Amino acid sequence: MIKNDLFLRALKGETVERPPVWMMRQAGRYLPEFRALKAKYDFFTRCRTPELASEITVQPIDIIGPDAAILFSDILVIPQAMNIEVEMKDGIGPWLPNPIRSLKDLEQVVVPDVHEELGYVMEAIKLTKEQLDNRVPLIGFAGSPWTILCYAVQGQGSKNFDKAKELCFSQPEAAHKLLQMITDTTIAYLKAKVAAGVNAIQVFDSWGGMLSPVDYQEFSWKYIQQIVDALKDETEVIVFGKGCWFALQEMAQSGASALGVDWTCSARNARYLTGGNITLQGNFDPSRLLSPPADIKKMVKQMIDEFGKDKYIANLGHGILPNIPVDNARAFVDAVKEYQG
Ligand code: CP3
Repeated sequence: MIKNDLFLRALKGETVERPPVWMMRQAGRYLPEFRALKAKYDFFTRCRTPELASEITVQPIDIIGPDAAILFSDILVIPQAMNIEVEMKDGIGPWLPNPIRSLKDLEQVVVPDVHEELGYVMEAIKLTKEQLDNRVPLIGFAGSPWTILCYAVQGQGSKNFDKAKELCFSQPEAAHKLLQMITDTTIAYLKAKVAAGVNAIQVFDSWGGMLSPVDYQEFSWKYIQQIVDALKDETEVIVFGKGCWFALQEMAQSGASALGVDWTCSARNARYLTGGNITLQGNFDPSRLLSPPADIKKMVKQMIDEFGKDKYIANLGHGILPNIPVDNARAFVDAVKEYQG
């Protein structure tokens, strides 16, 4: 039994004493303890070494005290396992030297055996569960097929992912083939993560908001829905689409347990669009953690008042930034823990 099960209860829509809290990218560069390991081991060594991945996962639990842990890894281990080379370059971020730009390029891409290619993630989950010792639940995650396609085709981060869109709009057959391969791999991967012990999963559609509402349905949502359908009877599923407020109404009908919201969508609008019945997660502006701790605490109270304490998981509206003082991150988490309606 998990001692602090607030997060799982909120996902099930149960009444809670206070909302649970965690932060996207909570295992990250704002923590000196994380930077110490980053200085010693390169990015994918940290991902592939279960002892390191579990140590990094547990760091924020010990230092900041959120109500859930999220396994340290990356969404880009999926294209890597599909035989698309991925590097992480300092100062640039993800770098894929052989981006997919045609049906011909797809010949090299495979739907792998996830146990063979990504067994190290399952080992990291088992070790992390031991180290968490049932203190808090563990979240597993994957990128949405569209967000993975963005990197696989663009080859690196981008302001507009123009090459990714070009493939979708000029070679839709290739785009859909790649999206389906990513979807099949992701479903097998997330099922393996659940079998290895994660208590919930989150799908990150970080670049869904780059698409028009119509294109979003065609190139992103269709595939996320397949993932939700395949996982929802096995675990709690959270879908976070950055900039995807326009799709909240449909997302609320998908069978997901909760939906992530970014800071550009008000709590009232998110509740209205989703019909008021599904758990929502978010949506503090990550840059607002640069405000003084006393201001953070006031704003967090206001955020919870607006979403309501039930069917709600306090979080940021996107990942925590590397320049956030640790005390400010702690003020965010403490403010939720101190919440009294
Ligand atoms: O939330 C957590 O603490 C778990 C760990 C996690 C990482 N990446 C570790 C990481 C998670 C959930 C991710 C997801 C991820 N990765 C997303 C979706 C979420 C989001 O933020 O939109 C995306 C788009 C990626 C791709 C990716 N990985 C980028 C763009 C970068 C570079 C970021 C940068 O600022 O350099 C990464 C690298 C990465 N993944 C880091 C971390 C902690 C930083 C680099 C490092 O530690 O060496």
